[in-house]
Amino acid sequence: MPVDAELRPHPTLDQYYAGDAAKRGFLRSIFDVTAPDYDYIERMLSLGSGSWYRRRALSRAGLAQGMKVLDVAVGTGLVAREAITIIGPTGHLIGLDPSAGMLQQAMASLNIHAILGVAEQLPMADGQFDFLSMGYALRHLSDLHRTFSEFFRVLRPGGRLCLLEITAPPGRLPRLLLRAHMRCVIPLLTRIATGRAASQVLWKYYWDTIEACVPPETLLTALRGAGFINAKRELSLGIFSEYTAQKPG
Ligand SMILES: C[S@@+](CC[C@H](N)C(=O)[O-])C[C@H]1O[C@@H](n2cnc3c(N)ncnc32)[C@H](O)[C@@H]1O
Repeated sequence: MPVDAELRPHPTLDQYYAGDAAKRGFLRSIFDVTAPDYDYIERMLSLGSGSWYRRRALSRAGLAQGMKVLDVAVGTGLVAREAITIIGPTGHLIGLDPSAGMLQQAMASLNIHAILGVAEQLPMADGQFDFLSMGYALRHLSDLHRTFSEFFRVLRPGGRLCLLEITAPPGRLPRLLLRAHMRCVIPLLTRIATGRAASQVLWKYYWDTIEACVPPETLLTALRGAGFINAKRELSLGIFSEYTAQKPG
């Protein structure tokens, strides 16, 4: 596939938004509305292991003290918080997200430089960052080729990236069980716990995008197509994917 062709992470899910042009608006509004519940629900989903997992993944990908980091799709700051503990006081982190509601939550608990924006068009100069992270947002992008080119552009030569994502398990039974849990049980529990219909929709959508997402090999090919080297995927517990890659030095 030519790298300038558009690569969508999943086909249009028109039960949620009317055509791809409406996807960005749908996402911004649902993340704005559910932002106050996000950390609570994430803790319930991950049984408290989320921060430990994120920190380990960032370290494994090469994040180190003193680095300058861009955390794309910073959300409420769950990846950023772990990155800050690794880079320490000599490092610097910028968090970017299109949802003002999510950024507000992040800034309430973290002392970070937050920027409103989208991954597909980063408002940053070339070659600025040692490290780029993005947690659980690949499926929300409009075009992976464009986004990965942007990631490549803002990293310095030798800079690294780490993308975290959930991948549907390949086996029929594990997939059915996970679908029942994530598409029915979790959305219902979040509705009961938060009283917000939008939270129930978000977590249903979460699973539907995981299931419809392009396969890991397509993501790795797209990273290589953008110019990255050493692109690879590490899988934990059968569903947690860590994509890492490096800009040639
Ligand atoms: C599931 S949250 C993940 C937040 C955080 N990274 C974490 O690990 O918990 C997904 C985030 O992606 C953001 N997002 C959606 N579309 C985006 C885009 N085109 N570019 C950057 N971020 C986007 C949403 O606003 C939301 O904050």
